[in-house]
Amino acid sequence: MQKILVVDDAAINRELLCDILENDYIVETAEDGKEALNKLEKAENDIQALLLDLHMPRLDGFAVIDEMKKRGWMKWIPVLVISSEYSVDVENKCFELGVSDFIHKPFESSLVKKRIKNAVDLFSYKNQLERKVEEQGETLKKQSQIIKKQAEKLRQEKSFNKLMMEYHAAIMEVETRLKVLNEEFSQEYNRNPFESIKSRLKSSTSIYEKLERKGYPVTVEGIRDNLTDVAGLRVICSFPDDIYRLVELFTRQDDILLLREKDYIKNPKPNGYRSLHLIVGVPVFLSNEKMYVKAEVQFRTIAMDFWASLEHKLKYKKNVDNTGEIVERLKQCADSIEDLDYQMQEIRNKIDKSRE
Ligand code: GTP
Ligand code: MG
Repeated sequence: MQKILVVDDAAINRELLCDILENDYIVETAEDGKEALNKLEKAENDIQALLLDLHMPRLDGFAVIDEMKKRGWMKWIPVLVISSEYSVDVENKCFELGVSDFIHKPFESSLVKKRIKNAVDLFSYKNQLERKVEEQGETLKKQSQIIKKQAEKLRQEKSFNKLMMEYHAAIMEVETRLKVLNEEFSQEYNRNPFESIKSRLKSSTSIYEKLERKGYPVTVEGIRDNLTDVAGLRVICSFPDDIYRLVELFTRQDDILLLREKDYIKNPKPNGYRSLHLIVGVPVFLSNEKMYVKAEVQFRTIAMDFWASLEHKLKYKKNVDNTGEIVERLKQCADSIEDLDYQMQEIRNKIDKSRE
């Protein structure tokens, strides 16, 4: 049976409430606030509701509430105030302090029971939910600690570090080839097919997390065989047709292996994401071997990149208000960006023609 603590200096009130509740609950009593706090402390989480008189000697009801707040108990135990008068001011103040409900004198047995049951049920449901959330938080924390530890273990392996060096070499290789093309275009046609290149080597934590999530072995072979985005490059161009020209010239090079192409410019994602993604095999020459290393190269315009950075933030921000509206507006922006990109391209083409 659930336990209830009745706190009232008037013996008659304690007795009447005991009579009403004793069939459904274990009823404990206290004659003043001090005794109540002692009993609450001893019972730890074992009291499901507190029926509290406001006017008492030694420590009154408000002081009990005050102390319970300080100790964080108001969150766990519903407090129902026993009162003889209806005073809007007092009741408002009590509700503001976190009191759940009132039990009015003279006691009406069925109402007293219902009010207590409601408060107890609500709190037990709320407490259960909070415990669950806390447990889930703990599990997540533990998982992220495991991921960190495993990633650390990976980092200490010599073969892992050699693999990372190979991916870094692949990034340098792709970057150099694209920069050479840019240089040539700049000399020949007085224009740059791309504005900038960003690159990143996937962190050991992200690598471990992705292998685990997809169920691949956490080994150097697991990475080499299954991950295509450890070496990542992003090429930012001014105009859409520069992207296609650059991709054509780059993939035409006879030692570049085109493993996969995803054209999200021609076929945008439903959220509006536009970019052209290549997975390529790049030759890397080491002191006594030549090997092909995979790299992911994303091509997008400046405007598409601007959009993707903002949209990326939305993905990783929890609790964003009006997510539906933001998603909708981002989609509209993506469509405007497409329009803008092609208009700018047309203007550039006209300018170029008039120069010829
Ligand atoms: P991942 O497992 O996330 O790498 O995706 P995937 O294997 O399905 O490949 P995809 O070519 O679709 O995406 C590769 C990368 O492109 C992602 O890791 C992101 O960096 C980027 N990307 C893809 N879709 C989106 C998107 O909708 N928004 C943004 N901001 N970036 C995206
Ligand atoms: Mg990726």
